[in-house]
Amino acid sequence: MAYETIIFSIRDRTAWIQFNRPEKLNAMNKELLTDLEQALIECENNEGIRSIILTGNEKAFIAGADIEIWAKADVDTSFKTTEFTMKVQERLADIAKPTIAAISGFALGGGLEIALCCDFRVAADNAVLGLPEITLGIIPGGGGTQRLPRLIGLGPATEMLMLGATVKAEKALSIGLVQDVVPLDQLEDKAEALAKRLDAMPAVALKACKTSIRTGLRTGLKEGLKIEQTAFSMLFGTLDQKEGMAAFLEKRKPKYLGK
Ligand code: COA
Repeated sequence: MAYETIIFSIRDRTAWIQFNRPEKLNAMNKELLTDLEQALIECENNEGIRSIILTGNEKAFIAGADIEIWAKADVDTSFKTTEFTMKVQERLADIAKPTIAAISGFALGGGLEIALCCDFRVAADNAVLGLPEITLGIIPGGGGTQRLPRLIGLGPATEMLMLGATVKAEKALSIGLVQDVVPLDQLEDKAEALAKRLDAMPAVALKACKTSIRTGLRTGLKEGLKIEQTAFSMLFGTLDQKEGMAAFLEKRKPKYLGK
């Protein structure tokens, strides 16, 4: 598959989706979202891929939606475009493989919203994150007002959303927006190491865990607990559950088969 606005590669069992509109700090346009969607489909269909890393370049993960395009939008185009954006984001949020956003430079607006759809966010020490839409006379239109408070809580999210306040890497770490901050030249290794750790996990349980978290977030506690109970019980039909518990009792490392 040929891509225009991303670079797609597979290293070991990890897919790398690198946003690539450097002249615009990777600002998000329809092509970039379409490429992202296609790359995610490729990841879904390739059984050899165990985890997915999304990244940008030194200056930007994604510096937001392309303002040049949005400046000409009206109510109708805005509604249609956000519908497409949300469809791609849902695919990313729900993909059955773990996702990691490796963030360097600017992750603003739609860029942060993409990162919020990932399971993990690791940042380089030069990262700047924010949802500055309010400063443009709008609000986030790709899930920012919903996903950010769910991740970091109402107080810090309200500050970022209502003041359009950006946060640097260390602050992002302290409010739980990212899991880790590393020097820029170590970002790739950090993300890769995380992908390797995830790859060593029992795959069926990992998928069940993600599904339980994601579906549970969309429902109430009662339904969420039911989803967890079902997923938990189903795992007792897997070889990995037998192996994991046997290995513990035999005081050895488990050898998971992903079955
Ligand atoms: N949409 C369109 N173009 C963008 C963009 C965006 N979101 N973010 C950056 N660019 C473009 C700039 O217009 C500039 O293009 P030019 O060279 O043709 O003038 C190029 O990318 C480089 O950006 P520049 O502003 O010169 O870099 P900087 O280091 O001085 O500032 C930012 C970086 C991120 C602070 C600044 O570009 C910015 O504020 N961008 C918009 C962020 C935003 O509001 N995002 C939410 C959108 S909803």
